[in-house]
Amino acid sequence: MSQVFDHNAYLPVMARITEIREMTEREKYFKLELSQPLYHHPGQFVMVSVIGIGEAPISISCGPTAEPVLEMIIRKTGRLTKVIHNMKVGDALGIRGPYGSGFNLDDFYGKDVLFVAGGLGLAPLRSLIDPVMANRERFGKITLISGCRTPAEELYRDKTTAWQKVEGVEVIRLVDATANLRWDGEVGLVTAPIPQLDLQPETTVAALCGPPVMYKFVIMALDAKGIPHSQIFVDLERRMKCGVGKCGHCQINASYCCQDGPVFRYSETMELQEALT
Ligand SMILES: Cc1cc2nc3c(=O)[nH]c(=O)nc-3n(C[C@H](O)[C@H](O)[C@H](O)COP(=O)(O)OP(=O)(O)OC[C@H]3O[C@@H](n4cnc5c(N)ncnc54)[C@H](O)[C@@H]3O)c2cc1C
Ligand code: FES
Repeated sequence: MSQVFDHNAYLPVMARITEIREMTEREKYFKLELSQPLYHHPGQFVMVSVIGIGEAPISISCGPTAEPVLEMIIRKTGRLTKVIHNMKVGDALGIRGPYGSGFNLDDFYGKDVLFVAGGLGLAPLRSLIDPVMANRERFGKITLISGCRTPAEELYRDKTTAWQKVEGVEVIRLVDATANLRWDGEVGLVTAPIPQLDLQPETTVAALCGPPVMYKFVIMALDAKGIPHSQIFVDLERRMKCGVGKCGHCQINASYCCQDGPVFRYSETMELQEALT
């Protein structure tokens, strides 16, 4: 897939932050203004950098758009993300990309779509949910299961509320535990609602994004429903450095997650099992 900023694969383009929202204690939403549209595919990522600090892969958290904007949710985990969390509107970030294989909407057209998001997994998944919602008539029944540990960690409450109002869309929000906080969703793991869902094996396509441990149990639940592995897509995050298939950091056997992934058809991940545990 082509990169918009491909004049030099390692040279970032500076992008101004136009909006910052605190989503949880650890996660902030960032909107950036670019010099040109990214023309990305759902599920792709960008390399985000701060000069003198470092660079990290971050998922694009908005649907494909011809607008020169980029939305992301960034969790404060280490050196770079701490610096980014201290930035203000008007500050600039370096951006390279978009990179990776992403989801192909052709695999989803005309199908019932099941999205399963665990925690921060809703950020990349939103880049697929947006175009599905925008072209609602091109898909069958849509179900989103979105789980997080506690109500304080819920992401995109505004979006899930809006999606829930779309005809033929079911949104199931869960927390592992309420932690004595107000909660109007369900309590349990993201696998809990799957046995009750009416999923037809011939017509259902599933897109999963969350921590590696989630995949194993969600796939077991989908196996019980008879959903073929060729109709399940998983978003695998590996440690990455270059993002362009050169450094080998993300390599598992013959696959480079930064180029062949991060989105894989589950039936094609047999040699990638170490990334799923
Ligand atoms: C394709 C892809 C998409 C990503 N999308 C997002 C996103 O949308 N939002 C977001 O907040 N983060 C995302 N990440 C993770 C992010 O790139 C890392 O957390 C990054 O290391 C943060 O940089 P840092 O310098 O702040 O932290 P570091 O100092 O590099 O690391 C902080 C901690 O996170 C661990 N870590 C680093 N990389 C990973 C990884 N890939 N998986 C698990 N643990 C890791 C380190 O071991 C360390 O404990 C993504 C990663 C990949 C590969
Ligand atoms: S991150 Fe360098 S090869 Fe994938």
